[in-house]
This record gives sequence, C-alpha cells and structure tokens, in this order.
Amino acid sequence: MHVLVAGGAGYIGSVLVPVLVEHGHRVTVLDRLYFGNTLAKLAAEVGPTRLNVVRGDTRTFDPKILEGVEAVIDVAGISNDPSCELEPELTKSVNIDGGKRLARLAHEAGVRRYVYSSSCSVYGHGEGLGLTEKSGRHPVSLYARAKAEIEDHLQELQKTPRGAGPFEIVLLRLATVFGLSPRMRFDLAVNVMTKNAYVNRRITVDGGGRQWRPFVHVRDVADAFALAILADARLVAGQIFNVGSNTNNVQILNLAFRVRDAVPGTEVAHAPTDPDLRDYNVAFERITRELDYSTKRTIDDGIREVLQAIKDGQLDPDERRWYTLKQYVFLREAERAMADMGVDGRLLSAG
Ligand SMILES: NC(=O)c1ccc[n+]([C@@H]2O[C@H](COP(=O)([O-])OP(=O)(O)OC[C@H]3O[C@@H](n4cnc5c(N)ncnc54)[C@H](O)[C@@H]3O)[C@@H](O)[C@H]2O)c1
Repeated sequence: MHVLVAGGAGYIGSVLVPVLVEHGHRVTVLDRLYFGNTLAKLAAEVGPTRLNVVRGDTRTFDPKILEGVEAVIDVAGISNDPSCELEPELTKSVNIDGGKRLARLAHEAGVRRYVYSSSCSVYGHGEGLGLTEKSGRHPVSLYARAKAEIEDHLQELQKTPRGAGPFEIVLLRLATVFGLSPRMRFDLAVNVMTKNAYVNRRITVDGGGRQWRPFVHVRDVADAFALAILADARLVAGQIFNVGSNTNNVQILNLAFRVRDAVPGTEVAHAPTDPDLRDYNVAFERITRELDYSTKRTIDDGIREVLQAIKDGQLDPDERRWYTLKQYVFLREAERAMADMGVDGRLLSAG
C-alpha cells in the first residue's frame, strides 16, 4: 500500500515510518522537518521507491504528492499545549487549517483510508473514571479544541460523496505517549520524569498529583496506526478508538513514585498548582474487542529504556530539539531575525 504520513519525521512518525516500511508499504513523508530529518538514514538505506521524505507544509504542499496514495496518516502539527499557546493564530493555521486542507486534498485525490492522530486530551477534565469513546468531550486547551474540531470535520467529510468510492476515516485518540524515538521528546510525562530523576535526582509533581492520565508506548502507537490503515472498513470507517491500555492509566503522583523506584535517591517534590488542567482516566476496551489490538509495553518498560539510553549516552538530555516548546520558540526567533536582518535569505553568510 502507498501511505502518506504527514508529520512522519516527528516523535511518533519516526517510529511509525520504519514499521510501515518493514511491513512492505511504500511510504511518502510530508513534514516541515522542524526537529530534523530523523528518517534520512532509513531513506538512504531503502531508497526513494520505498521511502520518500518531502520537506513541505500541510498548508501549502503540492497536491501531486497524493497521486496514487491509498492511505494517509496525519501525525503532523504543533503537538502540545504550551507550544500551541505560544501563537494561537499560528496554531489554528497549522493544526486546524493545515489538517483540514490535507484531508480535503486527500478526499479529492481519491485516497481511501484516512487515519488521524487525535488525543485523549479531548476528554479534558473528564467526568468520572473509565471514559469511553462515547463519553463527552471537554477539551481544556487550544490544542485539544483543535483536535476536537478536526475530528468533527473528518466525520463530515466522510459523508461528502465523491466519484472515487468511499472515504474511510479512522480517529485514533492516543493516550500520552512515552518511550524512545529518534525525535525524542522530553516534554512527555514519563520521559521527562525519567530524565529529571536521572539528571537532577528530583521530580516535581504539580497540583497534588491526584490527576489521572493514560499512557501508551510509542511503538504500541505505531502498531495501532499500522493496524488502522489495513483493518476492515466495516470495523473502522467513521469510528473512534482510544489507543492505550487500562493498566497504563495512572495518577501523576503514582507515576513519580514509579520513576523514583527506578532511580534510587530521587526526591519527589511538590508544586502547589498545576498549569495543566487535564484529568482523565480512559477505557481502552473498544480497540481490543473490535480490532484485536493490545499494547505490549508497560510504563516501567518505558522508564527502563529511556533511563538506559540516557545512561549510555545515546541521548543528550540538553538537546533543544527534544523539547517541543523550546524548539518552536527558537524557530520563531529565527524567523523574526530573518525578517528583520536577512539579506537574500541569509543572516551571517554573504551567499
Ligand atoms: N506524543 C503524544 O503524547 C501524543 C498524544 C496524542 C496525540 N498526539 C498527536 O500525534 C501527532 C504527532 O505527535 P508527536 O508527538 O509525534 O509530535 P511531534 O511534534 O514530534 O511531530 C509533529 C511533526 O509534525 C511536523 N509539522 C509541524 N507542522 C507541520 C506542517 N504545517 N506541515 C507539515 N509538517 C508539520 C513537525 O515537523 C514534526 O515532525 C500530533 O498531532 C499530536 O498532537 C501526540
């Protein structure tokens, strides 16, 4: 199958794309490469007929790259609350306008399957434990509201008739992801706590730590996307699936204790308030029951692998690109400097 992965060089994408290539799919990646081209080595190894990485933007890309594409996976966009708050208009243009444009062009190009990376954060401040796909959405941030808007848009788009046959959308509401990726993220709870425990011997828990959060390993997420592009349309078209596992729902304080147990000598400190208002405990039975999917990795597996990678020096915990907000702040500053001081697209060199 020819699959286009928008955002394929990101944290999830750079674990997902090798899985798709390994499964024998032909993959085109469309990505701004804001965090670097994490797929360059694989692309060179397998060649352009199996993996083609296109530097481009969902808001402006040439629709020709969708010719012959059978499935689109959208994992592009600004990927956490604080980065989305940085410049709300920019976030709307990337996460909403870009997401809608990609879907519309895929619909027009005759793409059959369209899988979207939604988030359990659409549940926001959840009502009760064990939220299912039918529970109400209460997004508490611009990031999560944009996810909800794209979910609704895709449901509508699927109903729009076209000559090229059915347009099958699948909405995957991902738990908060953890684990190693070539585009590492040290702004996701499991990863950052592990890093802070090892580097500072201290973890800070905000607002009491009673808030619930579900977690899922990045490789398990990749497997869910790989399944969603191939699953029987009767099971998945127009459907929403929470992606994660019931046992990986934990309260933040409990997560901190698990990390502390893995890194002896770590102190768990408390900050009185939590800027993050999310609190949700999610049920993951549907994807298991209907698609025979189950996660294979635990939170403790994730803590262990991240810890080992830092200990082995495989990862520099200070690298700016591993912190989404820092990288977007840097890119914004660079863009401003270019606008103020650039000559022929250059700042220091003379061309
Ligand atoms: N990581 C999680 O815990 C998690 C949980 C739920 C949902 N999601 C969603 O999954 C998706 C992927 O998340 P991630 O953790 O891999 O984030 P990420 O920031 O690592 O990856 C996003 C990728 O999108 C690219 N991108 C940004 N704007 C673009 C544009 N306009 N055009 C093309 N490419 C663009 C970036 O360069 C980056 O490679 C996001 O939509 C995110 O909201 C992530």
